[in-house]
Amino acid sequence: MKIGIIGTGAIGSILAQKLSAAGHQVKVTNTRDMATLSEIAANLGAEAATLEDVVKDVDAIIFSIPFKAYKDLPKNLLQDVAQEVIILDTSNYYPIRDGELPGLEGKTESEYISETLGRSVIKVFNNILEYTLRHKGKPAGEEGRIAISVAGENEAHKKVAAELVDQVGFDTVEGGSLAESWRQEPGTPAYCTELNTVELKQALAAAKRGLAPAARDAAMEKFMNAKTFPFHEEMVAINQSTYAVNK
Ligand SMILES: NC(=O)c1ccc[n+]([C@@H]2O[C@H](COP(=O)([O-])OP(=O)(O)OC[C@H]3O[C@@H](n4cnc5c(N)ncnc54)[C@H](OP(=O)(O)O)[C@@H]3O)[C@@H](O)[C@H]2O)c1
Repeated sequence: MKIGIIGTGAIGSILAQKLSAAGHQVKVTNTRDMATLSEIAANLGAEAATLEDVVKDVDAIIFSIPFKAYKDLPKNLLQDVAQEVIILDTSNYYPIRDGELPGLEGKTESEYISETLGRSVIKVFNNILEYTLRHKGKPAGEEGRIAISVAGENEAHKKVAAELVDQVGFDTVEGGSLAESWRQEPGTPAYCTELNTVELKQALAAAKRGLAPAARDAAMEKFMNAKTFPFHEEMVAINQSTYAVNK
């Protein structure tokens, strides 16, 4: 597939690297000048592209930028992108980082992003930590394979998203519609807790929407109050224990 990735931070860069290694033709963009971007892209096995070009002549576009950055993207960014092109979104909302965003209230995060982009997104790769994505992938069928959920409206697009997830080393679980996608947002038991498919299905089903924001903020407070920034396994343990109250 031809894949355009917007954002070469923690998540975008790992996806670029892994999808390129899986045989896809990947181009990436970020906010840097073309010389710096070209160096970054080359290290990821990808091509460098401007924001305008990264969405052209591709089968899928992955948005992996801070939640607050979507509203400032050019309004016509996806105007000429065919409906067949799959739009994937990895983002999560943290008020402490992203601030208050007009238009988000009462919507799931992916409904807000879809509305902002003018295109229905597939929500995927949002409930997996950077370290997990980089280091904990396994071949299909291997015991203990971690699963992530895929939410969205277009079943064919979700199927392709699931294939991409498989290619980078993880199982997928049906996350439902965008309206249901709060079940995989920060603060839920399905969020960055390294579950297998059976456990993730249970976590998605058990989530309670009203409790998620407080659990999300409580976990963030634990990270920030830790004497030293938690190692990966400690972060997962904090997520598991804090979000378990939300079952
Ligand atoms: N980190 C995680 O463990 C994790 C896990 C799951 C989901 N997520 C979510 O995935 C998204 C990306 O996370 P991250 O940790 O990868 O973020 P990050 O490390 O801060 O990287 C963000 C990337 O977005 C780029 N960017 C920002 N505004 C842009 C714009 N207008 N046009 C093009 N590129 C732009 C940045 O460009 P520059 O490089 O030029 O600054 C950077 O490459 C976030 O919404 C986050 O909540 C993160």
